[in-house]
Amino acid sequence: MGLFSTASEKHTEKLRRMYERHKQFRNMLKDHAQDILDSDNFNSTKRHLQHGSKTVHDHCMDVARYSLLLNKKLGLKCNKHDLIRGALLHDYFLYDWHDKAYLSQRGRLHGFRHPGVALRNAEKEYDLTDTQREIIRKHMWPLSVIPPACREAWVVTAADKYCSFMETVGLHKGHGEGFPERMTKEGS
Ligand SMILES: [Fe+2]
Ligand SMILES: [Fe+2]
Repeated sequence: MGLFSTASEKHTEKLRRMYERHKQFRNMLKDHAQDILDSDNFNSTKRHLQHGSKTVHDHCMDVARYSLLLNKKLGLKCNKHDLIRGALLHDYFLYDWHDKAYLSQRGRLHGFRHPGVALRNAEKEYDLTDTQREIIRKHMWPLSVIPPACREAWVVTAADKYCSFMETVGLHKGHGEGFPERMTKEGS
């Protein structure tokens, strides 16, 4: 009996800590990027798949979360405002890169080109700092050849690679499960 109650207390405590972390993350997003979260274009990324069943929106939220986690765990003292905004906007290319129409027009160079497209789109809507620009421009390093020049860009690059890998192997699942059927139903 004692064993069961200890296990259940541990589980409850674990859930409480998870809930607290999630609440903290949502508050940080609200403080630093409410305008991005509310924007139509950012919300339109919920209709675009990234890897596996994750939408681009899910992916960018995860990259922001893991960037903050890395910053905290490694004591990197990054500028949180730039880190969060850069992470949310790093894949702001605003098209579906799995779309056959896109592929036939632009070939298969999405990996090389999308940081530039994302940066141009983000510049149109937001007042970016140099650090945010660097995050978006270099997040695909080593494809960008020139390495990131600030710690915030290194952190987002690392978080992006980790999230992309977990999505590709199916260990991070998202809201895009059954995506093609859902898109058809929504008529998107
Ligand atoms: Fe990207
Ligand atoms: Fe990404």
